[in-house]
Amino acid sequence: MRAAAIVPAAGRGERLGPGEPKALRDLAGQPLLAHAVRALAEARSVDVIVVAAPGGQESRVSRLLHLVAGDTELHVVTGGRTRQQSVALALQAIPDDIDVVLVHDAARPLVPDEVIDAVTSAVRAGADAVVPVVAVTDTIKQVDTAGRVEATVDRSHLRAAQTPQGFARIVLESAHRDAAEHGLEDASDDAGLVEHFGRPVMVIPGSEDGFKVTRPIDLLLAEAVLARRRSAGVH
Ligand code: C5P
Repeated sequence: MRAAAIVPAAGRGERLGPGEPKALRDLAGQPLLAHAVRALAEARSVDVIVVAAPGGQESRVSRLLHLVAGDTELHVVTGGRTRQQSVALALQAIPDDIDVVLVHDAARPLVPDEVIDAVTSAVRAGADAVVPVVAVTDTIKQVDTAGRVEATVDRSHLRAAQTPQGFARIVLESAHRDAAEHGLEDASDDAGLVEHFGRPVMVIPGSEDGFKVTRPIDLLLAEAVLARRRSAGVH
């Protein structure tokens, strides 16, 4: 059996400022999405990649990604109105012989292949759902609508969730089916959906390099990480 990676890439990315859809913003001469797809294609455990592209950009995205996907089977579908819908549409395009599905944000271009392969391995070892996580470094305040602090949350139990998140295919498909039946359409991550319907979700160590490009300063950080990799002789 084979593993597939879905890449929801149809978001507008308004927090990055005006311009192209976020997945197509430039990072060191290539769109964010191309970096993310190259990382997945280079991971040993990924056989198929399905990208949910912004409407109207499908053929441009397909041309661009065939250059970086190498031998890895690549499909491009049209994304939906929400991230969750984009993932659900990509799930429908997955070949029959896939038993493990990863979901990876286009907005995390620098994820190391060790993390991708570790997520796949954890699912193959029997987990229903797996999330790479990192410790939360800021002190977190819970506040009310008036801006008053209600509590300082105990950080030792908190983790920031990254992607790729990995799933047994039937677990992810049934979570998306249940979500559609219950009118849920806005989940910000897939493990959250699985958890919502009462299935266990495991965590494994993520990586500092797996951060999400959301604000303009994240693009500067990503460029610095790439420059460090290049000077160390890693692409
Ligand atoms: O906006 P945010 O950074 O949370 O988006 C996470 C990922 O979901 C991004 O890769 C974005 O392109 C994708 N997305 C999508 N379809 C949407 C909205 C977001 O594929 N309608």
